[in-house]
Amino acid sequence: MKNKKVMLTGVRPSGNLTLGNYLGAIKNFVEKQNDFKSYIFIADLHALTSYVEPKKLKESIRNSIAMYLSCGVDFEKTTIFKQSDVLEHGFLGFIMTFQTKMGELQRMTQFKYKSQNVGKFGVDTGLFVYPTLMVSDILLYDTAIVPVGKDQQQHVELTRDLAERFNKKYGDVFNMPDVFIAPIGNKILNLQNPEEKMNKSDNGDNKGTIFLLDDIEVAKKKIMSAKTDSLNQVKFDEENQPGISNLMSILSKITGESFESIENRFKNKGYGDFKKEVAEAVGDLLKDIQEKYKKYNNENFLKNILQKGAQKARRVANKKIKEVSKVLGLN
Ligand code: TYM
Repeated sequence: MKNKKVMLTGVRPSGNLTLGNYLGAIKNFVEKQNDFKSYIFIADLHALTSYVEPKKLKESIRNSIAMYLSCGVDFEKTTIFKQSDVLEHGFLGFIMTFQTKMGELQRMTQFKYKSQNVGKFGVDTGLFVYPTLMVSDILLYDTAIVPVGKDQQQHVELTRDLAERFNKKYGDVFNMPDVFIAPIGNKILNLQNPEEKMNKSDNGDNKGTIFLLDDIEVAKKKIMSAKTDSLNQVKFDEENQPGISNLMSILSKITGESFESIENRFKNKGYGDFKKEVAEAVGDLLKDIQEKYKKYNNENFLKNILQKGAQKARRVANKKIKEVSKVLGLN
C-alpha cells in the first residue's frame, strides 16, 4: 500500500447518477481502484453551485454512497467520504483562488455553459470559482491520477497550472496530477439530442438521460427511442452519425466489444436490432446495479462508511494544510 500512488475522483450529488457518470468516470475508477491508494468523494459543496432543496440534497448524498458501492467501489479498500466532512477542502479552495487569474476561470467551458442556464437566480460567484475548489480537492491528497469524463479535463489542467504556480512561489508542496480520460465513453451524449452531453438535468422530460435507478423497462425504451439518422449503417462516425456512435460507445464500454466487431456484426442488420442489443446491455447493467443498491441502502451501514472515510481523509488533508500554512507563513 505504501508505494501506491493516489487516485481520486468526485461526483456531485445533484439528483440520481446517470449512465454518463458511470461510464465516463465511476467505471474507470472501479477498474483501477486496486492499483492505487483510492479516494472517491461526494462533492456536496460543488452541488451548492446551483440551488438544491436541502431535503433533496440530503437524500442525494445518501443515494450517492449506496450508488458508489453498487457500481463496484470497494469500501474495504477505497476511502469514501463526503467533501463537506473535511473542512480543509474549503480552506485550500480559498487559498487557491489567490493563485488564480479571473481570465483563467472565465475560460472554463463548464462555467460558460452553466452560467447560461442558471435561470432567475443569476450567476453566483460560487459557480465562477468552483474550479478552484476542485483544484484543492485534488491537491490535498497528493493525487497522481484523476479519472473523469471529458467535460472535467479543463479543470484538471487548471489544477496542474495552479500547482506549478504555487510550487514555484512557495516550494515543492503539491504533487502534479494527471488526468485519466478513457478513450471510449468519455462523453456520453443525450439520447434525444446527441449534440449535447448526457446530463443529470435534461430539460424536464429526461428521455435523453438514463439514470442508474431508472425502471429497467423505461431505460430500455429510452434507448429504443434514441435519435439516430437515416444512413442505416452501424458505423462509428461521430461527426456524421453522432446518435449511432453514442450507442456504440455505450455498448462497447459496457461489454468491452470493439467498434470494429460491433460494425461487423451489424453490417446487414437494421437499427432496430442494434438498439435492441444496446437496450439489453443497459438493462442488464442497471439490473445488476439496482440489485446491489437494495442491499447497500442501509442507513447505519452507510453512515459508518462515511465516518471512517472522513476520519482518514481528514488526517491526510490536515497534514497537507499544515504544509501549506507553513510555506505561506501562516503557522
Ligand atoms: P459531475 O458530478 O458533473 O460528474 C461526475 C463525473 O461524471 C463524468 N460525466 C460524464 N462522463 C461521460 N459522459 C457524460 N455524459 C458525463 N457526465 C458526467 C464527469 O466528467 C465526472 O468525472 N466538478 C466535478 C466533480 C468534482 C471532481 C473533483 C472530480 C469535484 N471535485 C475532483 C474529480 C476530482 C463534477 O461536477 O462532476
